[in-house]
Amino acid sequence: MGYISFIFLLIAISCVAMKPYPLGINFGPNHITAAYITAANQPVVAARLAVDDEYRALIADSIENEGKKVQRQGQWYLSDGDSLIPTSPDPDHNPKLESIFAKWMDRIHNTVNTNASIPNIITSISIPQHFNGSLYSAVGNAALKNEEGMIRPWQTRHYYNAARLAYHLNSCQGLGLDSRTCHIEDGPHLVLFLDYNESYLEFFLADVGEFTFINVAKKRMEHLKTSTFDASNADGLRNELLSFIDRNLRYDVRDDLRAIVFSGDAAKSRFQELRNEIIRAMPEHATRIRDSIDPALVGAIGAAEWAKLQVQNPKILKDIEVDTTIPNNPVHDEL
Ligand SMILES: *[C@@H]1O[C@H](CO)[C@@H](O)[C@H](O)[C@H]1NC(C)=O
Ligand SMILES: *[C@@H]1O[C@H](CO)[C@@H](O)[C@H](O)[C@H]1NC(C)=O
Ligand SMILES: *[C@@H]1O[C@H](CO)[C@@H](O)[C@H](O)[C@H]1NC(C)=O
Repeated sequence: MGYISFIFLLIAISCVAMKPYPLGINFGPNHITAAYITAANQPVVAARLAVDDEYRALIADSIENEGKKVQRQGQWYLSDGDSLIPTSPDPDHNPKLESIFAKWMDRIHNTVNTNASIPNIITSISIPQHFNGSLYSAVGNAALKNEEGMIRPWQTRHYYNAARLAYHLNSCQGLGLDSRTCHIEDGPHLVLFLDYNESYLEFFLADVGEFTFINVAKKRMEHLKTSTFDASNADGLRNELLSFIDRNLRYDVRDDLRAIVFSGDAAKSRFQELRNEIIRAMPEHATRIRDSIDPALVGAIGAAEWAKLQVQNPKILKDIEVDTTIPNNPVHDEL
């Protein structure tokens, strides 16, 4: 090999080896997972930590109290059956919550630190879909205070809005549309998420654009938790799915359902069963199922893709007031 080509080879190797994108992390119900995208566009899981009792309690409390605190004409209420009891607003800062999230970000750094070839800067975070505004702020405040890679609140996204990026469902190509004729913002482009972990199955329907993510409908089922789909609960699942689709999608817009994304930490065999039942219920949508990525890692890999997008398009992180061409993010990201 000539001297010159050897130099070029070295440059080529160092370019490929050099620049992985920063970390994205997913705050899941059972694991906190960090991932990144390599310079060769491969997603890599860098750390996956099992949660502790304190974090589990926080998740359980947030699920239990989801939607109970509501605001009407400036006043906050707790809903108790049919009545509304006046209550005080949440504080702007909740040091206890913030310290829990900061602790897990520290743990991710400490885990990743042992391997110099892994980037150790967090620039995007995915949080549970049901997190309310106060929890969203607590994660954001912890990250903005402690993470040098976090400079804008919208580097944090709710779960499905991050997860969709694992399958590039923010572009015409990712949505399976012809990029010569399709305009990403001329929707609807519907995505159905099936989040499955054995104690529940959640259907979540969203209308997506490049930066927009509009929550259309959700239904969480706790009663499909039996060990496997036998004939009776398989029928139940198909009926639930079809009635969810009928209620939320007119027959003539079914083709706008561009992708069906599997996520969650149920066993592989359960996802296979789920897949079979989805195909029985909606055979014409079989090719739109997205399950090539391990469903348990979809949130973290989506967050990693979001971290990569920020590097490729740094304008995303400019101030919205300064650059009004950049859409606010997340938009409509509340059900
Ligand atoms: C948000 O959730 C937390 C945890 O469940 C709760 O303490 C808080 O009051 C909720 N805030 C609102 C505005 O719903
Ligand atoms: C460091 O991380 C890379 C990428 O995940 C992995 O391929 C490599 O084996 C790790 N090295 C060590 C010593 O763990
Ligand atoms: C499913 O999620 C719940 C909390 O949301 C958790 O307690 C349970 O352990 C999870 N199941 C599995 C199999 O991970």
